[in-house]
Amino acid sequence: MERKSLEVELSMTTIGIIGAGEVGSQIARAAISQGYSIVIANSRGPETLKNLVAELGPSAHAATAADAAAAGDFAIVAVPLRVVNNMPVEELAGKIVLDTNNYMVWRDGHIPILDSGEKTVHELRQEHLPASKVAKAFTHIQAPRLLIAGRPAGAPGRLALSVSSNFPEAVELVTRLYDQFGFDTVDNSPLSESWRTSPGQPAWNRWAHQNREELTRNLGRARRRRW
Ligand SMILES: NC(=O)c1ccc[n+]([C@@H]2O[C@H](COP(=O)([O-])OP(=O)(O)OC[C@H]3O[C@@H](n4cnc5c(N)ncnc54)[C@H](OP(=O)(O)O)[C@@H]3O)[C@@H](O)[C@H]2O)c1
Repeated sequence: MERKSLEVELSMTTIGIIGAGEVGSQIARAAISQGYSIVIANSRGPETLKNLVAELGPSAHAATAADAAAAGDFAIVAVPLRVVNNMPVEELAGKIVLDTNNYMVWRDGHIPILDSGEKTVHELRQEHLPASKVAKAFTHIQAPRLLIAGRPAGAPGRLALSVSSNFPEAVELVTRLYDQFGFDTVDNSPLSESWRTSPGQPAWNRWAHQNREELTRNLGRARRRRW
């Protein structure tokens, strides 16, 4: 695509970001640097995000989670998973939703259906958001590295990130976003396979210090384990 038309397209694309912590705020910075607009939310209300939005500049707005979801052409959920859904289902319906969640028992408590291996974390998120197209994304890169570890396509040593989804169009969107942020993609779909990048697995332990071949190899080295 021509540079000019890509810029026009991006300037018209809004990402709704739910979660304004480490991951949500760094994705917001990376997205704005690539020409996106963002609407960002936390749990305490938009008035608590004044400083962040001022720092992010005119392409950023703060809102409630429901309004951020409604405003986005697609959405990013950067909020730890709860066993009872706490995301705005209706406003996210029909949209691609990138979920950055890692299940951390020490932080989230035990969720039996995940502990038993009956479902993956992101299959559960997909169940919570039945009319959305969920993709697991950005789960094995430390948030601050999003802004410093990217390289142009084809550059030696370009690193790779994985994506999992049950929807090819969601994989395509994440692949494009990763590329814009400076990363290659390894498709680890569907969501039932997404345990391969969960905490403790080789691909997760290496975080974003692996190229496409290394990440592919590490996904193959994963061994299912119960919590
Ligand atoms: N940190 C990393 O480098 C990293 C990397 C990859 C993946 N992850 C995963 O990504 C997820 C987010 O991590 P994080 O480090 O960004 O967490 P964090 O810094 O604790 O931020 C969590 C954010 O979620 C918001 N939030 C919580 N419940 C919400 C709700 N119901 N509605 C709207 N917003 C809500 C919080 O708002 P309040 O502050 O107002 O409560 C906060 O802004 C976690 O699952 C984490 O494991 C983290």
